Amino acid sequence: MQWAVATYDTAFGYVSAHGAPLLDLLDPQPDERVIDLGCGTGVSTADIAARGADVIGIDESLEMVNAARSEHPHLSFAVGDAHDFTISEPCDAVFSNSALHWMTRDPSAVISRVHAALRPGGRFVAEMGGAGNCAELIAAVQTAWRVFGLPEPELPWYFPTPAEYATRLEEGGFVVRLMEYFDRPTRLAECPDGAADWVRLYAPELIAEVPPELAGPLLDRVNELAAPALRRESGWMADYVRLRFAAVRKPGGDELVQPQAPPTPHTPPGPHPSQPPHAASAAQTPPAPHTHSAPQA
Ligand SMILES: C[S@@+](CC[C@H](N)C(=O)[O-])C[C@H]1O[C@@H](n2cnc3c(N)ncnc32)[C@H](O)[C@@H]1O
Repeated sequence: MQWAVATYDTAFGYVSAHGAPLLDLLDPQPDERVIDLGCGTGVSTADIAARGADVIGIDESLEMVNAARSEHPHLSFAVGDAHDFTISEPCDAVFSNSALHWMTRDPSAVISRVHAALRPGGRFVAEMGGAGNCAELIAAVQTAWRVFGLPEPELPWYFPTPAEYATRLEEGGFVVRLMEYFDRPTRLAECPDGAADWVRLYAPELIAEVPPELAGPLLDRVNELAAPALRRESGWMADYVRLRFAAVRKPGGDELVQPQAPPTPHTPPGPHPSQPPHAASAAQTPPAPHTHSAPQA
C-alpha cells in the first residue's frame, strides 16, 4: 500500500482525532516503555510521549516513518512489519490506532509478536475496523466493479467480529479486559468527491488494476451507488464500525512465542537528516537495557 503521506495528516486527521479516548484507555505512565504499532506519521506516538512515556513508533511504510521523523524529530521511529518485529527489551504496553485492520497477512502472527514484545502483565490497547466496517462503501465498490464487468476486487483489509478477535487474543496468551464494538459514522470532511475520493485515498491499488479510461466512470458509479446511504446535506459520511480493546499479557506464556532468530539490527536505507541521535541508536545499536531496538523487517 502506497500512502499519500503528504496529505495524510489533513485528509486523514480524523483517524488520529478519534484516537484520543484510546490514549486514555492506554493511560501511559511516565517512564513506561510503549510501542505505537502502525504509527503512521506519529501523531499518537507524540501524544504518548507527551504523557512522559518512552515510546517508539513502528510502521512498515518508510514514507510514513520518514514523515514521522521529520514532524517529531525528538522521537524514535523504526520501519518494521508488525508480523515479524522484535524488540530488545520487553515493553509495558503496545498501542495501535486504526492500523491492525491493514495487517492482513496473518492477524495471529501480529498478536504473537505483540505478545513477545510485552512483559507479562503488559497491556495491548488498540482500535481497528470491525466486522461491517465501511459496508456501504465496500458494497458500492463491489457493485460498481461488477457493473463494469471487472473481476471482484481484492480488498486490503481485515475487519473481524469482536468474538473472532477476542478468540485470537485469548489463544495468543492475552486476557481480554475490554472489547467494544460500535458504529462510528465519520464525516469525510476531506473527501469532496465523496466515496470516490475515499477509494482513491484508501484503496488506490484497486484503481491501479483498472484500465485507466474506466477509472473515472467507475468511481462516478461508486458515488451514485453509495450516495443514498452515505451522502447527507452536510456532506459525505463513512459508515465506520470500530473494535476497541484492552488486553493484558498473561503471566508466563512464553511457550506461545515461536522461537525467533536473534534480532538483527535494522539498517535504514540511509541516514535521515532530521533523525536524532537517540532514534539512530535505537535503530542501529545492539540492545541496551531500557532501549528499544529496531524491529526486524
Ligand atoms: C490508517 S494508518 C494509521 C496511522 C496512525 N496509527 C494514526 O492513527 O494516524 C495505518 C498505518 O498502518 C501501517 N501498517 C499497515 N500494515 C502494517 C504492517 N504490517 N506493519 C506495520 N505497519 C503497518 C501503515 O503503513 C499506516 O501507516
